[in-house]
Amino acid sequence: FQLHKIVKPLLSWYDANARVLPWRDNPTPYRVWVSEIMLQQTRVEAVKPYFERFTAELPSVEALAAAPEEQLLKLWEGLGYYSRVRNLQKAAQIVMEQYGGILPDQPEELLRLPGIGEYTAGAVASIAYGRPAPAVDGNVLRVLSRVTASREPISDLSVKRGFAARLREIYPTGRAGAFTQSLMELGATVCVPNAAPNCGECPLSSLCMAHAQGIELQLPIKAEK
Ligand code: ADE
Repeated sequence: FQLHKIVKPLLSWYDANARVLPWRDNPTPYRVWVSEIMLQQTRVEAVKPYFERFTAELPSVEALAAAPEEQLLKLWEGLGYYSRVRNLQKAAQIVMEQYGGILPDQPEELLRLPGIGEYTAGAVASIAYGRPAPAVDGNVLRVLSRVTASREPISDLSVKRGFAARLREIYPTGRAGAFTQSLMELGATVCVPNAAPNCGECPLSSLCMAHAQGIELQLPIKAEK
């Protein structure tokens, strides 16, 4: 499958259909980072008010690094998984000490910070810095499994890395952040799990191998049997 064929239709679709989300206007590295940490285990609608309050009270890496623990816990109260906010502050302190308060722009360096894995490193590097760095989460794996009609189990790290490698080859210069988010967005709003995906609205339906075979609902495969 010629994966590069998805780039133009996805970007056009994203430009016309992207949801307006608070972290999308003014996508500074700090704001993208905070939003991606919140979105790791929490749904978009639930994250919105937390993101607004968090970034209003703690508008910078510096403010986050210096925040009292009780303020952090209050800002996170209700989101759960409190290790996320502890790691966020630890990482902010490292960024202050080692990077002069500027988040690094390379995925390999972002990966060294607590709480940042391959997905988040790619999201920050591409959305905030325009680097050709894929961010492959469950939504993206579903889109890619379907469009390529892949029966490889997405629970395998090697499958995830294989898709990431293929994506890295096709990242559009100047639109890396939009491309990363277009894949997530399609998975979240059109190429949805379980219930029938909205193939009628999908910019990739004419390319989609799962759609051609009528096997959208069988994909992705989660684990080897
Ligand atoms: N889920 C994870 N990251 C996201 C983003 N940047 N926009 C929307 N949903 C997301």
